[in-house]
Formats: sequence, C-alpha cells, structure tokens
Amino acid sequence: MLAELYAMQEAAQRELGAIESPEALEAWRQAYLGKKGALTTLLRGIGALPAEERPEAGRVANEVKQALETTYAEREEALRQAAAARDLSASAIDVRLPGRAPALGHLHISTQTLREIYAIFARMGFDVLTSPEVEDDVTNFQLLNIPPDHPARDMWSTFYLTRPGLLLRTHTSPGQVHAMRKFPPEPFRVILPGKCYRYEQVTTRSEEQFHQVEGMAVGRNITMADLKGVLAHFAREMFGAERDVRFRPSYFPFTEPSAEVDISCSLCGGKGCQLCKYSGWIEILGCGMVHPVVLRNGGYDPDEYSGFAFGMGPERMCMRKHSITDIRLFFGNDLRFLQQFS
Ligand code: FA5
Repeated sequence: MLAELYAMQEAAQRELGAIESPEALEAWRQAYLGKKGALTTLLRGIGALPAEERPEAGRVANEVKQALETTYAEREEALRQAAAARDLSASAIDVRLPGRAPALGHLHISTQTLREIYAIFARMGFDVLTSPEVEDDVTNFQLLNIPPDHPARDMWSTFYLTRPGLLLRTHTSPGQVHAMRKFPPEPFRVILPGKCYRYEQVTTRSEEQFHQVEGMAVGRNITMADLKGVLAHFAREMFGAERDVRFRPSYFPFTEPSAEVDISCSLCGGKGCQLCKYSGWIEILGCGMVHPVVLRNGGYDPDEYSGFAFGMGPERMCMRKHSITDIRLFFGNDLRFLQQFS
C-alpha cells in the first residue's frame, strides 16, 4: 500500500509539472483528488488492510494528500499568473506605433447644396431668413390665396398635427408672409431655406421630407424681367454657364403670372434622353410674380409694390448635378453614399 501511495504521488506530481492549461489542471484534479480519483480509491483500500498496517498507511496517505493539494494550489497560482502576464503584454500600448486618426465627419450633401445656393444668392444681395416648420393652415394655405376646399390644395398632400389647424409645412412659401410681415413696407430680398413635409408616396424622385429654398423680392418696380434675370443667372451659376434656361407658363395660386424654370439636360445636351424623358429639358423650380392678394396679406399695398417669388428643391437639383438616381439616398444614412461627397 505504502509503495502504491508513493508511486502515485510521484506520477501525479510529474504530470502536474507538465500542465499548461486550466482545463488540463481540472482534469488532473479529478483524476487524483476527485471523488473517483486515484487517491480516494487508495484511501478506501486502507480499511481492508491488516489492523497493524492501517495507522502507518493512514498517516502516509494523509501526507500524500496534503502534498498533492499543496502542489496543485501552487500550479494553479502559477498558471493564473502566467495568464495574467500574457493578457498584460497583449494589451500593452506600444508608444512607438503611429496614432490612429479619428474618422472625420463632413457636411451632408444636402447642406453642401444649400450652402452653394446661399452663396449664389448672397452675391445677388439676398439675405437668409428662416420660418417655422410647424405652421397653421392659415399661413401655409389661406394667406397664400388657397382657401379651404380650393382644388389647388391637392398639389400639397399634407401632414396634419393632432392639434386642430396645425400642420407640417408643405412648402417654404408661408415664409413669404413671415418675411413681408417682418420688414416694414420697404424693398427687401430674401431666401428662406428649410425642411418641408408631404404625405406622399415615397419614390425615387419624391420623399416625405425634403428641403426647399424659397426666394422673394419685394419693391416698387419689380417686374417679371427681374425674376427672369435673377433665376437665369442662378441656374447658370449652379449648373454651368453653357446651360440653356427656359421659362414655361405654369400655375401656383400665390403667384400671377406663374412659371416653371427648366434647364437644358446635362446628359444629352438638349437632344433628348431617358433622364429628361426625351424632352431635352429638366425642371428645377417654380416661380412667379407675387399675387396681389398675397402682397396685401403681407402688409404691402399691391398698387404701390410688386414682387417675385420662387421655390426650388435642393435635393432634386443636387440629383441633377451629380446624376443621383434615387432621392431616398439623401436621408438613408448609408455612409457609402454620403462619403462620396466629403
Ligand atoms: C411649390 O412647393 C411652390 N411653393 C414653389 C413656388 C414658390 C412657386 C414660390 C411659386 C412661387 P412645387 O410643389 O413644385 O412648388 O415644389 C417646388 C420644388 O420642391 C420642386 O421643384 C421639387 O424640386 C421640390 N419638391 C417638391 N416635392 C418634393 C418631394 N416630394 N420630394 C423632393 N422634392 C420635392
């Protein structure tokens, strides 16, 4: 029995010295010190020994058990320290390595387009004003010569708020009234950029949320020729001096006469292609001479004052400029798209 105990101790300690992983250490513990381990099996055999051999066998068995438990604890501690040292060296900072540059953001393509538009109008003496995104029905429609139940309301599918009479503005045109009421009856020129909302089918051309830039000039002798001059200059600055610009009669309840402005198609140069639907022209904005009713609602006497106004969509203009085929990319937050405009 004693020989067996010493032999087992020697084998166990030899094996323990070669152990390198916590899993192997646990397997060793089960094999020698566990309930069905070698030492426990030997201890159970002591009872079967002759009575005179039992005390000595018991003493040696205890010594072997203590020795194995002590070396087990030492090995466990050694493995723990080795693992900690490995972790430490793996996560240590190598101060000689070059630093990692943080990813820099940049202006969103809609903001870039808006700023391009501001800059062109600033050179023509237009100030920038903003007006509320939440409007009431009166300012968004009625003061713009669109009474309740007027068929022209179909042009602007509207998000109404739960509070009666309030809505998300469908266009920046209510800014015309805010601008006129802000200034004393003196000539002024402003652009009014901002977000608009329409309860519309989202398609490659139309979003429920998009930007518009409204423009307005009011003075004593403002004519359609001023409107044409300003917008033709804008279109060539924005899209290139070689572009043809045309004014096409249109209808808006708040301007009379009204027009839409087209530029010659950049892709086919006016010959006709899929982009311009084979017309050779691409529409960029709506405009007209401010309706006398609207001038009066803004506090200006239409017998003394006249003005022009226009409204354009920067996202659609940007699509034309950069041949972007889907407006949903603007607010889709896909970095692969946005980073192309850094
Ligand atoms: C208007 O909203 C008029 N208020 C413009 C105006 C102002 C006319 C002043 C006369 C005087 P319209 O609905 O066509 O007009 O919109 C103007 C521009 O906004 C369009 O040319 C287009 O570029 C953009 N736009 C309109 N709806 C959407 C939409 N759902 N998604 C993206 N852009 C849009």
